[in-house]
Amino acid sequence: MRDYSGAVTDDETNVQTLDSSETSPALRGAAADALFHAAEQRGDMTSALRMARRAVSEFSLLPRYWHNLAAISRELWHLDEMHEALIRKDALTRGRNADTPVQVPKYLHKYEHDIEQLMHLQEEGVVVEGSQELIAALQTVHQGLSSVPHYQDGATLEWQRLQRVLSPVHRKAMAHGLNRAVYVEAAPRLAGRALNPQLDFAAIEREYVGVSPSMTSFDTLLTPEALHSLRRFCLRSTIWYEDKVRYLGSYHWDGFHAPLLHQIASELSEKLPRIFGGHELSTFWAYKYSADFDAGIGVHADTAAVNVNFWLSEDASNLNPDSGGLVVFKREAPASWNFEQFNQGEFSRNTTRFIEVFGNENRTFAHRQNRCVIFNSNLFHTTDVIRFKQGYKHKRINVTFLFGKRKSK
Ligand SMILES: [Fe+2]
Repeated sequence: MRDYSGAVTDDETNVQTLDSSETSPALRGAAADALFHAAEQRGDMTSALRMARRAVSEFSLLPRYWHNLAAISRELWHLDEMHEALIRKDALTRGRNADTPVQVPKYLHKYEHDIEQLMHLQEEGVVVEGSQELIAALQTVHQGLSSVPHYQDGATLEWQRLQRVLSPVHRKAMAHGLNRAVYVEAAPRLAGRALNPQLDFAAIEREYVGVSPSMTSFDTLLTPEALHSLRRFCLRSTIWYEDKVRYLGSYHWDGFHAPLLHQIASELSEKLPRIFGGHELSTFWAYKYSADFDAGIGVHADTAAVNVNFWLSEDASNLNPDSGGLVVFKREAPASWNFEQFNQGEFSRNTTRFIEVFGNENRTFAHRQNRCVIFNSNLFHTTDVIRFKQGYKHKRINVTFLFGKRKSK
């Protein structure tokens, strides 16, 4: 992808470039983008928003301009504008004909997921152009890689060899289908509430602020309509781009955005002001787990003030109703620790070691569909032991929203 930036120096020059009708839209876009970053650094969010809007209006071909507009819109709770900006960004980076290179999946369960998902869409009567060819291509590659001992890294010679032996039709299907948004299910804002209006919001707030460390859990978070729509969005949308060793991830800035999700975030903030008041919506994502493993994510903390987790997978998919959820330890990550230490450090790979150092005082929340756990995001937490049925619709799916900033030294 070409880099259209350059020839941009200080604010004064950038303003002149922006005001000049002599310069190209690409250069005016670059000038607006530079002014966006300058305003953001000064903490002048209003100017930053104006410049982010100007950058995309001058030059709309750079995904990062749309990304910047989405980021500032999110900070200012302009969630509709964020959504529109992300749709434009996704079209440039994840569209069928995007000029971004194919991202090579690192783990076999990602191929299995994508094949199962396309078959699920077929079963449900959803027409996806080129779906049959993509399934055949994915099956060929999956079969080839299954025979490679300890296949872990998609950028292996074997993966490259398999691409070469695919038929031209299947090669084309992979190039325009793998890790592309070939189908995105609509999850519109609901006319009614997304959060269950019967919830005792005052009691939830009392528990969260009244216990130390702060955490609470309750059931039936979403209305049946919201739960159904969000689960269908997750099952049908081809947005699961991040493949980790035991699960797939989808993040708000790369596919996991929908008006219904933004409605849920807004209603959480509105209905639980003693928990979320004053906190920006930092990010949100979902993870989908392979049933081949009995573990999920290791011990870590997330960089935010408040962490919201809930599950979309059905109770009947969980083979052990006493587990399958989340363990939240009553220990905060030290404020002096940086992201690598508290999120991806040695404890994320070794729970036993974590317990030796920090102890095992925790609250364990079993998996239930539509159960919500809210906790201080600086608390260490980990996926509980998980044992779910095999089958596409049985996959464990959790959604996370992060609000506010982590307190650090
Ligand atoms: Fe987490």
